[in-house]
Amino acid sequence: MTNDLILAIDTSCDDTAAAVTRGRVVYANVVASQVELHKKFGGVFPTIAKQAHRQRIAPVVALALERAGVTWSAVARIAVTQGPGLAPALEVGLEYAKQLAITHQLPLTPVNHIAGHIFAVAARPRPRLDATLAVAGLPSSPLSPTTVDSQLPLRWPILAVIVSGGHTEFVLVTGPDQYQRVGWTVDDAAGEALDKFGRMVDLGYPAGPVVELLARQGNPRAFTFPLPMTTTHDAMMSFSGLKTAVRRKVEELTAHQPLTKEQVVDLCASFQYAVFHAICYKLNKFLQHYLTTGQPPLQAVWLGGGVAANVALRQHLRQTLRPYQLPLHTPYTKKLCSDNAAMIGVAAAVRPVSPGNAATWVPDRLPQWRVDQS
Ligand code: KG4
Ligand code: ZN
Repeated sequence: MTNDLILAIDTSCDDTAAAVTRGRVVYANVVASQVELHKKFGGVFPTIAKQAHRQRIAPVVALALERAGVTWSAVARIAVTQGPGLAPALEVGLEYAKQLAITHQLPLTPVNHIAGHIFAVAARPRPRLDATLAVAGLPSSPLSPTTVDSQLPLRWPILAVIVSGGHTEFVLVTGPDQYQRVGWTVDDAAGEALDKFGRMVDLGYPAGPVVELLARQGNPRAFTFPLPMTTTHDAMMSFSGLKTAVRRKVEELTAHQPLTKEQVVDLCASFQYAVFHAICYKLNKFLQHYLTTGQPPLQAVWLGGGVAANVALRQHLRQTLRPYQLPLHTPYTKKLCSDNAAMIGVAAAVRPVSPGNAATWVPDRLPQWRVDQS
């Protein structure tokens, strides 16, 4: 892992994000959310996302530098999400990063967005000493000699469980920047299923956080939904059948009258349980298989992605991992679960600096880039 100061950018979906990181330490993490712009569509509208990224990227980058307390002279390289994501949205971040790399004569490191969600777990907050100095009115910056280097050893292999609005996958990480995708959804992502369910019962967009809150008041056993993909012994997942099942249940319940508040909270609790149970069921399948095939012992399970903010998911996973005595690690703040650029900076720190300079190397967007394809 290199210790360069990195300016990182992510515009893979509907958040315009820039961050300043060094190794695993996050010095600034700025996210301009576009949720208000996409709400009325009940999902992300790519051309609107592109336009908003264009308007916001420059001020967001400037704010990240300001919050970190550094100028361009301190930045050693630029990291940018190349994929996966929405093509028009990715394009804005890539073009802007390339322009910055040329202007400031810096190397440009392309980063996979899923690798970012994985490395969000490895991220560490800015050392306290910096904050104390700032309160005392004394100068402190990532370049300050007083800055504590909070590098902690990373032990491999780990299994990453990434659960977001666009992805639900299990990734075996055998070393820095070495990924093997071992299970993934064949259709909708778990967050997408929660959002689509939320639309059926008018919870707004994105519905995941609202479902979590309402589920706390409901009974997860009030309605039962089928456990998907039980006939396969692999770690592949599917959530579209669950979505159809909950749609039928909502149609049945609303055939003659609108849903009661009690029915809404019970649906939230039961559907959320079904989605998380499907993930944990397949995680268990993977772990059973992994342990019986004589592979190096797993050190931990890392949880990332927007849905990783959900406390019920964390509890469900911890319960699943208990018999295996495997710890579950999550990002140190929920801000690192949903899309952000700090995770891109931390993931970039384990990648080699690309040869050549940005003027001759034009990274193209890779909307379908799998984390295990280099
Ligand atoms: O990682 P993310 O910001 O974007 C993608 O890369 O997809 O994830 C967004 C997803 C949305 O589906 C949102 O509903 C879900 O994460 N989400 C949650 C929670 N917070 C965000 N789902 C369940 N519980 C939450 N607390
Ligand atoms: Zn994401």
